[in-house]
Amino acid sequence: MENKSSLFLIGFSGSGKSSVGKKLAKVLNYTFIDTDRIIEKKTGKSIDEIITQNGEIEFRKIESNVLSEIDFSKKNIVATGGGLPTIDENLKIMKKEGSIIWLEASVDSIFERLFSSNEIRPLLGSNIKKDKIIKLFNIRLSVYNIAETKIDTNKKELNQIVKEITKIYGQ
Ligand code: S3P
Repeated sequence: MENKSSLFLIGFSGSGKSSVGKKLAKVLNYTFIDTDRIIEKKTGKSIDEIITQNGEIEFRKIESNVLSEIDFSKKNIVATGGGLPTIDENLKIMKKEGSIIWLEASVDSIFERLFSSNEIRPLLGSNIKKDKIIKLFNIRLSVYNIAETKIDTNKKELNQIVKEITKIYGQ
């Protein structure tokens, strides 16, 4: 497989992009970037505050800016927000600068993880319901399917997922 500079982790909220990304960056000695955390640092607001106060469209603009400002002369592992690949411009950048990996998780495991998470996902609401996840999940599926690699994360330990990715992309 061609070894492009950066690896982009995409997938629904709760699919493990941040935890897999952090570990993967350590193992591969890449720079770890979490777009949501950069947005929060840049704006001084939580993702929830940005979306509820300024709306999703404004959030997507900030998100696209953050993606475009990444230093792609470095090898990065980029944990993206769940909706980042829904914007064409973002997809173009990711395809140009690296490889896209979809961390695939079932609605059941997403529900389990989000239910026990402290982070508010404003598009899903503070009271996480399975039917809301299913609705957004189905809309997002065709976008996530553009990934060059799909990793099934269901019932797998973090180390196993990282191992599978390094097997494909590690030198
Ligand atoms: C979003 C997912 C969130 C965050 C924002 C919007 C989405 O990131 O970017 O709440 O549109 O699915 P995670 O995928 O890390 O939860």
